[in-house]
Amino acid sequence: MTDQIRIFDTTLRDGEQSPGCSMNLEEKLKVAAQLEAMGVDIIEAGFAIASEGDFEAVQAVARQCDTAIVASLARAAIADIERAWAAVKVGRNPRIHTFIATSPLHMRAKLNKTPEEVIDAIARSVGHARNLCGDVEWSAEDATRSDPDFLCRAVETAIAAGATTINLPDTVGYATPETYGAMFRDVINRVPNADKAMFSTHCHNDLGLAVANTLAAIMAGARQVEATVNGIGERAGNAALEEIAMAIRVRHDVLPVRTGIVSTEITRASRLVSGITGMAVQANKAVVGANAFAHESGIHQDGMLKDSSTYEIMTPESVGQGATNLVLGKHSGRAAFRQKLGQMGYNLSDNEFADVFKRFKDLADAKKQVYDEDIVALVDDQVLRGHDRIQVVEAEVHCGSTGPARAILTLSVDGEVKTAATRGNGPVDAVFNAIRSLVPHEDSVLQLYQVHAVTAGTDAQAEVSVVLAEDGRTVRGTGAHTDTLVASARAYVNALNKLMVKRGRSALAATA
Ligand code: KIV
Ligand code: ZN
Repeated sequence: MTDQIRIFDTTLRDGEQSPGCSMNLEEKLKVAAQLEAMGVDIIEAGFAIASEGDFEAVQAVARQCDTAIVASLARAAIADIERAWAAVKVGRNPRIHTFIATSPLHMRAKLNKTPEEVIDAIARSVGHARNLCGDVEWSAEDATRSDPDFLCRAVETAIAAGATTINLPDTVGYATPETYGAMFRDVINRVPNADKAMFSTHCHNDLGLAVANTLAAIMAGARQVEATVNGIGERAGNAALEEIAMAIRVRHDVLPVRTGIVSTEITRASRLVSGITGMAVQANKAVVGANAFAHESGIHQDGMLKDSSTYEIMTPESVGQGATNLVLGKHSGRAAFRQKLGQMGYNLSDNEFADVFKRFKDLADAKKQVYDEDIVALVDDQVLRGHDRIQVVEAEVHCGSTGPARAILTLSVDGEVKTAATRGNGPVDAVFNAIRSLVPHEDSVLQLYQVHAVTAGTDAQAEVSVVLAEDGRTVRGTGAHTDTLVASARAYVNALNKLMVKRGRSALAATA
């Protein structure tokens, strides 16, 4: 058996299914480019039949990718499979990923199908997919709660119909490392044609075991691993790609396998995904958290100064986390700034660069020291919303202990500049009221408002996240600025832009 593990990234599909984490086409292309740069083998770009927007995104990612296989998800239905194929076939390395549930609970309660009907559906759907595409993955949804004998029959049917990869997901995060590993051993040993396919893991993190379960499956013979950047995904998320890649690298003594992941690209991928989705990475998150390489206690600091391996099992540099750098000041010119962006992995168009440079100059005027983190926040904030229909032009706020807060806000809405003056119960409320009066959206509810400082110091940039909900849709907006209220306005407006995109997608899906 090969010791090479294929990394299948599903940030753009399962990850995007996290509440409020939807991405637009441009954002998906940026993430896909970074995934390729990080050495991901397979990118699941979306669920092509879900909406016109999803179809276009899968197709665009397939067109863009040079080396990675690009997959679209499809249910066990002919229309789904044909839509998936239409989206991925434009790429160099297309894959159709089709699935159906195999647990008694899902077959009865969700699909309303007998086990025999499910076996039939597997044979038909996989066979149809294989007639279209040479690379077909089949997943047994809720595999970990399936009857082992039935699961073996289903897997045998899928391989006989032409599946080249068999994925056994722990859909609800129910498995433990022992049970998950045992399931792979059982299926691989008992299914007569198991040697004709590669086995894949796909773990959810409901009990916090997704990475441990993934590693157990590798030890039991799985050679493809499905994961997401920062572990984002449905409910408690998916297995975190960066944790699996680094566990394999650091503990090669007990996990004698390898991946093609370029570990120095990990932090960049993590920042990009959290910047786009607005899903902050917890400070104590393994590998990519802000504290992952911070040493607070005197004993640890003393040990680190003597020999860093006393308290570090991997270096920050190995995951692309340089020491926090003092970067540039207000006297820095365009060339130095462009060079810094290049070192940080940003490749901006001339227009994007001009906008970002102007904001960098404003920031350098407002703030004594500009760090890498500031630049990441600034570029994410500026570039990722360049095409938003609504933009914040100006914000002025009066607040304090005497009387209601007042905001005067100017927005550009589809190019038309409008101003509103409103009051509120505090400055944030006043700003949000101004946005509501300029762009009415009575059916939306503000579900979350969160502020965090990008760096230390009272002159730090504030990064604000806002979650809006409307008719079962949730969107997350982010904004960064040294003025917390300007950052708040930008975050709210960013969420509103995403909501408009989502409304458009739903309208299209309803029409379809
Ligand atoms: O969790 C799951 O079962 C899935 C499948 C669709 C692969 O995401
Ligand atoms: Zn999943």
